[in-house]
Amino acid sequence: MFELIEVKYKDIVDIPNLSISRGLTVLLGPSGGGKTTILRMLNKMISPTRGRILFDGKDLKQIKSVEHRRNVMMLSQNPAMYEGTLRDNLTIALRFQEKESPGDDELYKILSGVRLHKDLETPVYQLSGGEKQRLALGRLFLCDPAVYLLDEPSSALDDDTEDAIIKMVSEHIETTRKSVVMITHSKALAEKYADEIIEISDGKIISRRAVYERNN
Ligand SMILES: Nc1ncnc2c1ncn2[C@@H]1O[C@H](COP(=O)(O)OP(=O)(O)O)[C@@H](O)[C@H]1O
Ligand SMILES: [Mg+2]
Repeated sequence: MFELIEVKYKDIVDIPNLSISRGLTVLLGPSGGGKTTILRMLNKMISPTRGRILFDGKDLKQIKSVEHRRNVMMLSQNPAMYEGTLRDNLTIALRFQEKESPGDDELYKILSGVRLHKDLETPVYQLSGGEKQRLALGRLFLCDPAVYLLDEPSSALDDDTEDAIIKMVSEHIETTRKSVVMITHSKALAEKYADEIIEISDGKIISRRAVYERNN
């Protein structure tokens, strides 16, 4: 799916060669190691200072950013929120795309999937950081891109909720045949749900391995 060839980003990331396959890939490693920088390159938010990145065989430089980000969407650690309600923030991307919003039943189903048990009319300023991130994850599910890039989607959660959310993501991509590249600090969850684990430290790949036996 992604191919990184001699990729450098300033003196932060240095990856001679890496391919990321479809399915659920987890990036693990110490803070400051360059994981977020890698996701931002995959999303074409930033471009490598050296080397190139291919998406399905095509150089990202040849793909328009807007077009790329319709297929490959990123959930950042501090997602942008708009003034207004949960409903406004869930459906805003659909409004940009001039698509019709699904009914309330569907919206509440998405909220419950991301473990956000709030009324659709709740103003977003009342949400905590972690709740905003889950709302943004719900928003991403509504857009349903081919590839989800998730930057620690569950860092602000207790262990059980974190497991539930990643399980939901994992099931969703399995049934819809989508892909995820996800950063998490949790080795246990990576082992449990990832198809492939890539360990990154100091801007370099320390190890990568396929997880053959799934516990779930
Ligand atoms: N645009 C940037 N310019 C310069 N340094 C940056 C930039 N973005 C991140 N960094 C630095 O690069 C390093 C890696 O950051 P990051 O990719 O956020 O790591 P991680 O997500 O693994 O914690 C950190 O030292 C960070 O301060
Ligand atoms: Mg990070």
